[in-house]
Amino acid sequence: MNWWKEAVFYQVYPRSFKDSNGDGIGDLKGVTEKIDYLSWLGVDVVWISPFFKSPMNDFGYDISDYKDVDPIFGNMSDFDDLVEEAHKKKLRVIIDQVYNHTSDQHPWFVESRNSRDNPKADWYIWKDAKKDGVPPNNWVSLFSGTKAESMWEWDENRKQYYLHLFGKEQPDLNWQNPDVKHEIFESMRFWLEHGVDGFRFDAAAHYHKDPKFRDASTGVQIKESLFKSVRDVYYWDRFSGRPETLLAVEEIRDFLDSYPGEKVSVGEISADMGLCLYLLFTLPGRFSMAFNIDFMEKLSLDAEKVRQLIKNVDTSFGDRAWPSYVLGNHDNFRIINRLTEGMEANHDTKKKIAKLAATLLLTLRGTPFIYYGEEIGMENTHIPYDKIADPWGKALWPKTGRDVCRTPMQWNDGEYAGFSDVESWLPVNSNKSCVNVENEMKDRNSVLNYYKILLKIRKNNLPLRRGNLEFWDAPEGVLFYTRTFFSMRTVILINFTSSEKEVNIKEKGKVLTGSGKNTGEDVNGKVKLLPFESIIIEIL
Ligand code: GLC
Ligand code: CA
Repeated sequence: MNWWKEAVFYQVYPRSFKDSNGDGIGDLKGVTEKIDYLSWLGVDVVWISPFFKSPMNDFGYDISDYKDVDPIFGNMSDFDDLVEEAHKKKLRVIIDQVYNHTSDQHPWFVESRNSRDNPKADWYIWKDAKKDGVPPNNWVSLFSGTKAESMWEWDENRKQYYLHLFGKEQPDLNWQNPDVKHEIFESMRFWLEHGVDGFRFDAAAHYHKDPKFRDASTGVQIKESLFKSVRDVYYWDRFSGRPETLLAVEEIRDFLDSYPGEKVSVGEISADMGLCLYLLFTLPGRFSMAFNIDFMEKLSLDAEKVRQLIKNVDTSFGDRAWPSYVLGNHDNFRIINRLTEGMEANHDTKKKIAKLAATLLLTLRGTPFIYYGEEIGMENTHIPYDKIADPWGKALWPKTGRDVCRTPMQWNDGEYAGFSDVESWLPVNSNKSCVNVENEMKDRNSVLNYYKILLKIRKNNLPLRRGNLEFWDAPEGVLFYTRTFFSMRTVILINFTSSEKEVNIKEKGKVLTGSGKNTGEDVNGKVKLLPFESIIIEIL
């Protein structure tokens, strides 16, 4: 069994985790300070979002030096300390690698845009305008806001367009150029030599584009909101999942496999083809896993839809590849907000729903990824217009952007939630007085303690880590599934509704944990479920 199939990953957005030097921005030392917390919680891997040199237009997803730490976050020796401390606590560390594009401030781009014949002229994707001066094709930037914007930006100096899938400050690298590829592998080597256990590959579906740069095969449509895409699936065909990209991913895998310790690779494969592309990218010899963004975006409180969603993942992956599950990340609204949209939910109901989502995440067949703060039930934070920091958020306004899920981790009920001593780069959520780590550590029924118990159970329960997944008949609004490993069976019951339900599991068991029942309670046949209650039962 590969170690990462049994591990639980935890994403840290370093700007917002812990500020160690009082400038209102989280940093690497701050993450190191909190390694004890992560180890107490019981996760196995910490994934740290970008902390590399960057003008921070896209908060680090716009890199100007792949092999250095941005001073905002500290320096290389802070990073080495972090890895050392984590490893001491048996926590692995993975980091982001952003190879689809660089920042426009990267010296490579500065040189590239200088002339049409400099040594790096071909390191990015440059094209002449069409006859009438218009961009080379109809592709629309993935960072378009309320109106469609071209993926091509005109450069007065070269009198050519360059391609940018995301913001215009993020020019796309030319993966066809062997020198570019060489540098990319050198960057991976650099971090592997600094002890990382693997990588998250940003925007990895898009490395290679259609070599003919043909128009997108359907019309230009833009996102209706952050996670409700109205782009036709065919829209992505020209720059997602090209065969050349899959070959590049195989080379990356070979390279990682030349290091000891089985380095993990997780691809961010964003495209509306969802599952089908995740599978392509994670077949043997490619990425270890792809983030299941499809699950994250479609998860709702409609039990039947959720069952179908999970079945699709589980059967399409089968034994071909290994699935993952994700509830949230730095690009999406907080899970509680998404699940309670349009509902009158008080604090207690929100807690139950956070636990319901946690139960799913940690009992399905696949590797779970927890987004920082999810384990305490953090919610979206309202960001006033003049505080919007996310470049895409600015373009989307008055629709909501990504800042809402990137606000400071709530450690205690202090003025800045124990994140910093000074005003933080994004406002702290006003619910910090009850939703915070310190409080929840003391409260037996908190979301935090539920996560902690679930993580412990998962670690000691073979069916939950490795077992097959099977769904059983249950009353409307309830999910009833089992995880089976040889003769060992674990039953999971989740009530997605606000009314009481009863399920007959037709067997005898013992409650491992649940959001309503007590651990150790015996069950026999019929089990009553309170509104939104989740129960995990070991079959005896
Ligand atoms: C990925 C990141 C996102 C970033 C984009 C461009 O989707 O998750 O935060 O803005 O890539 O790098
Ligand atoms: Ca700081």
